[in-house]
Amino acid sequence: MTKPIYIINGPNLNLLGTREPEIYGHETLADIEAMCRDAAGERGIVFSQHNSEGAIIDQLHKACGYGSAVLINPAAYTHTSIALHDAVKAIGIPVIEIHLSQPAAREDFRAHSYVAMGAHGTVSGFGAQSYLLGLQAALNLV
Ligand code: DQA
Repeated sequence: MTKPIYIINGPNLNLLGTREPEIYGHETLADIEAMCRDAAGERGIVFSQHNSEGAIIDQLHKACGYGSAVLINPAAYTHTSIALHDAVKAIGIPVIEIHLSQPAAREDFRAHSYVAMGAHGTVSGFGAQSYLLGLQAALNLV
């Protein structure tokens, strides 16, 4: 049985479309989900969004076992969460970090990612396209 790609979105990404569109674009999270579902084809995706850190970690644990790889946009937890870093390293399937914007080109507090240290790779700065590029990479890996 082929296992789907888990796509996990962190806090405030439910507000995409209206949240600082000059930075994050005009696509809603539902638009991004539809694009990814289309691009994943028969492999399929499990797409979710969570505002709390623990819920993201629970979803990463589910991906280990039920998923073949993970795309994660950890949003602000990228820059703060050792717990996410540990979970990414613990699950034993490829994890690709995604960002709509290019955090390294923004405020200093966005320059460091705890998730990148455990991720297979990172795609950032391409708006909604970051998800499609990351998905392509994940499909090639699995
Ligand atoms: C983000 C970048 C983060 O720094 C920020 O906290 C977000 C979104 C992005 O997709 O560009 O919420 O992950």
